[in-house]
This record gives sequence, structure tokens and C-alpha cells, in this order.
Amino acid sequence: KVLILDFGSQYTQLIARRVRELNIYCEIHPFNKIPVDSESFKAVILSGSPNSVRGEDVLHPDLTQIRGKKPMLAVCYGAQYLAHFSGGKVAESNTREYGRANLSFVKQDEDFFTGISKGSQVWMSHSDTIKQLPTNGVLLASTHDVENAAFKIEGEKTYAIQFHPEVYHSTDGKQLLENFLVHIAQLDQDWTPDSFVDETVEALKAQLGNDKVVLGLSGGVDSSVAAILLHKAIGKNLYCIFVNNGLLRKNEYSSVLEQYEGMGLNVKGVDASARFLDALKDVSDPELKRKAIGNAFIEVFDDEAHLIEDVKWLAQGTIYPDVIESVSATGGPSATIKSHHNVGGLPDYMKLKIVEPLRALFKDEVRRVGASMGMDKDILGRHPFPGPGLAIRILGDITPEKVRILQEVDAVFIDNLKSWNLYDKVWQAGAMLLPVNSVGVMGDERTYEKCVALRAVESTDGMTADWVNLPYEFLQKTSNEIINKVKGVNRVVYDISSKPPATIEWE
Ligand code: XMP
Repeated sequence: KVLILDFGSQYTQLIARRVRELNIYCEIHPFNKIPVDSESFKAVILSGSPNSVRGEDVLHPDLTQIRGKKPMLAVCYGAQYLAHFSGGKVAESNTREYGRANLSFVKQDEDFFTGISKGSQVWMSHSDTIKQLPTNGVLLASTHDVENAAFKIEGEKTYAIQFHPEVYHSTDGKQLLENFLVHIAQLDQDWTPDSFVDETVEALKAQLGNDKVVLGLSGGVDSSVAAILLHKAIGKNLYCIFVNNGLLRKNEYSSVLEQYEGMGLNVKGVDASARFLDALKDVSDPELKRKAIGNAFIEVFDDEAHLIEDVKWLAQGTIYPDVIESVSATGGPSATIKSHHNVGGLPDYMKLKIVEPLRALFKDEVRRVGASMGMDKDILGRHPFPGPGLAIRILGDITPEKVRILQEVDAVFIDNLKSWNLYDKVWQAGAMLLPVNSVGVMGDERTYEKCVALRAVESTDGMTADWVNLPYEFLQKTSNEIINKVKGVNRVVYDISSKPPATIEWE
């Protein structure tokens, strides 16, 4: 496996993605927390950073245990760091070095550049530049503006590049990573969904033995894949709980429960709708709604878990982006825009040990793992859906009648997306019930009813998103159908805001 030391670049996760795309396993760790089992890593990549190596108080880890002992690739800040501390010179650059550039010189007969020639486009993003190579540095490539665009250290498998091979705009970036990881560091490309399943199932068996494990299923991709993995490892010792909070999509509770049973899972459905709606009575503030739902969930789950005699573990569908967001190298905690209740965890007194079989995976890898275990496309392709469900799509206070209206509207929208073959092209879609009534006319009657907003976005991780350009005919038909079928709604609008500055959910 490969160790990626994170100096806080916005591109660090992308490096990990590219490495995984080569079927090589990697992990990201903060620059100042080199893992204790660093021996087990066969190569190291140093990431970029928003900082300058010339600063006083900044990111200067001791790499003596690693450098020269393992193959190392230093990217951007990493390259400058290497130069600065090994007899080279880094200074502020006179010209702006952002965006595309082309290699104007590439050293011939160099494994690092196999298959990459002069002219290849690379992506730069830095304000410092390497003026002088470090001791024993050998120049490997230049661009028009950046002389020391790539170098190696003679006698070591240590390579450094000023540009970013991980972004798509570096056309041969993937080739370069492959040259380094496969040809120079000699890593095997054997990390596949199948091998992940085999290894994880074995590891779970060893870790859990005959212990009982409880897992909360949400209907979403992550918890479902986690459940199937655990089921493969420990069978009936996995106790799944699927809670109906009364804020799911129309018919979702019964259909998802059936699906889970069909997959052979030991699952208990708990219909706690009334309890949740009660907890939400007269609550309008989005964060208070999340708290109310989070607390109710913990209570319900806790009651159920206590019924399982001698349960030792709590399994969670945590995935990689959840993990690394909390270990960002430079940042303190970022501002809480919305608190996502489902990452809050359970009360201490439950004293369960945590097992998270998907901790190392990105979302699309989770889907691939699910597919390799033969899981239904219907589950794997499901859009993300927030833990608090329709509660944060009903603006203002929540009543059973509002839930009914929104469930109906949402069902028309989602069913139409499916029948128009648009569902899989959209990252997430849903409807919002607005806290306004507007005047309409139906037949010869004046109406004064609810307005709903439809939202469909494209995204890769939910961090940024753009609205989807759905066909007008689709919107026309969907709007008609909603107004004709759903009693209480006389107006439909389509949300054309991107994130940022808006967010995906309205609350
Ligand atoms: P926002 O609205 O923050 O949403 O742009 C980004 C992604 O997160 C989901 N989301 C939530 N998920 N609990 C969740 O489990 C929450 O409280 C929550 N709020 C937003 C949202 O659906 C989108 O996928």
C-alpha cells in the first residue's frame, strides 16, 4: 500500500483517487501523524499545500525515517519541501504559475517519464518556485516558466514534481503516477473490489469471532453494503435495525425492508413514526429538527439494541470522506453549516466497540464493492437521502398532512425521473415543501394552496453541486402531474441554484 502524507492541499483526495484507479491501495494521513505501521507502506507521496515552505511555523515533519528508504514522490509543496530542506532554494516566483503549461524539456531515458514526451500538458498551481535543486538533484523536466518542474535525487528513488499529476488537466498525470508506483516503486496492481471483499470478510471474521454485532440500516448505499459484507463474515450474528422515522419517501419503509429480507439479512423493522413526529411537534428551526431527530433515533436504536442479548459491536457505514474530513492537515474545525445527525454516534453508556468495514472506501468504490457481491442495482444506484429525511425538506413546522403532501410530490418526481431514464444521470433529487401558500385557479374555483420546489443536482461528493438542466418537456409533464394528482398543491417551481452559494437541501 501507499502512504499519502497530507499537507492540506485541496487535491489530496484526488491523489488517492488516482492511485486507487490504478488498483493500488493507499491511505491519506496528516503530515504530522506518520502512522506507526509506516513499515507496511511500500511508497510515499507528499501532497501539495496552501502553505509556503518559507514560513516559520509551518508544516515541516521529520522525514528522515522515510526519505531514501522508500520510493517517494513529492508533489508541489512536497517538492518544494524536499528542495528547501536538502540544500536547494525556494523563493517566491515572479510570474503567476497557475493553470496549464506544457513540458518544454523532458530528460530522455528516464523511467519516470516513460510514455510521456515533450509538449505534454501539466497543471500548475503554486506561488513559490524552486530556484535551485537540492544536493544531488537531477533535473528531469521543465516548462516555459518553471525550470525545475521535475527532479530526482541521485542514488535514491526520490522524485519531485512541481505540477499536479492528480488533476485531469495534467494529461499524462495518470501515466506518471503509474510509472512511479508500478515501475519504480514496484507495487502490485491487485487491489480490486473482489480482493477487497475477500480480505475484508477474512479480517471481519478474525476481528469479530462469535460476537454479536448491531447495525442501523438506513436504506442507503453505505449501510446496505456494510451489512452485506458483515453478513458474509458473521451471518446471523449480525442484527440489523431499520427504523421508520415517518420521514422516509413514500412506501420506502416497506419496500426497503422487503428488499433487505430478500437479501437474507437478519433485519428488524421498527416503526417509530409517531415518536419522531411527536418529537418534531412545533419545531421549525432546521438545527433543532436535526437534534430532535438525532435524539429520537438514539433512543429508539438504544431500546432495540438492548433487546439483543450480549451484543458487543456497533457497525457503521462510515466511508473514507467522512474519515479524512476530520483529519485535515491545516484546518481547525470548519464552520458548521449543517450538523449531520447520523455522524454523531451513540451515547457512551452503550459501550459498544465500533466496526466500520467501509472506512477506507470512496463512494464509487462502495458501489463497486456492492456490485462485486451481486447486490441489486436498485440499491447501489440509490440517490443520497439525508438522515432527517423529509423533515428538512418541509420548511417550517412539520405535520402529518405536510409529510403526506411531500411524499406524494416526491414520488411523482422520482418516478418520472426513472421512467424518463434521467434518474441515473442525476446525483440527487427531491422536492421541498415551501411554507407559503399562493393563489391559483382550478376549474372556476380560486385556490390558495401550497407551493413545492423541485431540486435535482449534479455532484461528485455533495460538497459542491450544480442544478441539472432537466428537459422542459419533463418539467412540464411532472409539474402537471403533481398539481393534478396531489391535493393541496397548486404551484411547482424548479430550483436553479448551485452550491455554493446555496446548499443542496433547503434547510
Ligand atoms: P447540503 O444541503 O449540506 O447537503 O448541501 C449535502 C449532502 O448532505 C445531505 N444532508 C444530510 N445528510 N443528515 C444527513 O445524513 C443531515 O442532516 C443532512 N443535511 C444534508 C444532503 O442530502 C446532500 O446529499
